[in-house]
Amino acid sequence: MSSPTLGTPLSPSATRVMLLGSGELGKEVLIALQRLGVETIAVDRYENAPGQQVAHHARTIVMSDPAQLKALIEAERPTLVVPEIEAIATPMLQELEDAGVVQVIPTARAARLTMDREGIRRLAAETLRVPTSPYKFCDSLAELQAAIDGGIGYPCIVKPVMSSSGKGQSKIDGPADVQKAWDYAMAGGRVSHGRVIVEGFIDFDYEITLLTVRSRDSAGEIRTQFCEPIGHVQVSGDYVESWQPQPMATQALQRAQDIALAVTGNLGGQGLFGVELFVKGEEVWFSEVSPRPHDTGMVTMVTQWQNEFELHARAILGLPVDTSLKSPGASAVIYGGVDAHGIVFDGVAEALAVPGTDIRLFGKPESFVKRRMGVALAHAANVEAARSKAKQAAASVKPRVA
Ligand SMILES: Nc1ncnc2c1ncn2[C@@H]1O[C@H](COP(=O)(O)OP(=O)(O)OP(=O)(O)O)[C@@H](O)[C@H]1O
Ligand SMILES: [Mg+2]
Repeated sequence: MSSPTLGTPLSPSATRVMLLGSGELGKEVLIALQRLGVETIAVDRYENAPGQQVAHHARTIVMSDPAQLKALIEAERPTLVVPEIEAIATPMLQELEDAGVVQVIPTARAARLTMDREGIRRLAAETLRVPTSPYKFCDSLAELQAAIDGGIGYPCIVKPVMSSSGKGQSKIDGPADVQKAWDYAMAGGRVSHGRVIVEGFIDFDYEITLLTVRSRDSAGEIRTQFCEPIGHVQVSGDYVESWQPQPMATQALQRAQDIALAVTGNLGGQGLFGVELFVKGEEVWFSEVSPRPHDTGMVTMVTQWQNEFELHARAILGLPVDTSLKSPGASAVIYGGVDAHGIVFDGVAEALAVPGTDIRLFGKPESFVKRRMGVALAHAANVEAARSKAKQAAASVKPRVA
């Protein structure tokens, strides 16, 4: 393959990239692309989404509607389409990719397999045979109870097949919790088609995100590289804190990389993947994978020479990448704390007064109590010091109604 050529934005030579989903992660990918002179089109379901504020063009459509998605891609004719969220009409992306209309990152098939929990779990556990929690897919309360009684056992976790950030997800400790978990999953799924996965509970020591990049080297060959493992804490299925590097036993790290290589190798294409893994001693289980930058990976904005967004931008354009660590560091989420439009943030100066800290405020037009509105970042000589600084900085930022 010949070396890729980049054009001039807003001219006939432009390299044009369309982001499907323009939240805080998409915003950083867009900034990284802008720095390489790429012309960017930020798509989201609502106006003034974070990424739309930094792109050349902003478009607002229902991305799960195949007709709207097709019409937009055909009108814009981007060089690349980059999904940033899961809730997209992925069969339409597949159709457009098959017809040669557009190239989907990393591939249309990867976007389709990871858009719900079933495609990727069956691929990982049944085709690739990597270790996962025991699981069953169920379409009714009766099937759920039968799956638990038939071997999944207690404790277990129930999740809607279509959901993210822990929505509709709950832990079942005994028979009395089953009905409640089913009802909660039905209310919390993204598309109410009433299907859930029930997973045996893994009593892990810690969990990691292993950022894995498939990029082209200078000879044009695909090469897989790993970032240092990212440790994180999840509350109700949503990330609140992350750090890098997470110390790991040599054998556990090797297993984690082997699993990530198998899964990303099968999904194919070019780009960065967030491989979520559970670790207990030297044992490692695959949980799920995002074929795109990962929320826990925001820490790389302060820990790596090329953060996960810059790695993704380079990889998708066919450029070489550097995954090396710059400094240990940590991130802590800043939640909205209030339900309101156009909120203000007090305490930013206090947050930044802590040496080695930084913050990102995403610019979301509307705040919710539990909506992620920003993130605090900190680097330090070690992860413990960085975690404490990041948490202190996040706690200093006080969102309120304007
Ligand atoms: N089988 C399991 N055993 C133990 N803990 C689990 C299991 N499944 C999920 N969890 C916990 O719940 C968290 C969220 O689960 P999962 O990643 O499947 O949900 P999600 O909604 O896709 O979350 P996100 O979108 O934030 O990645 C995990 O990071 C882990 O902490
Ligand atoms: Mg997850």
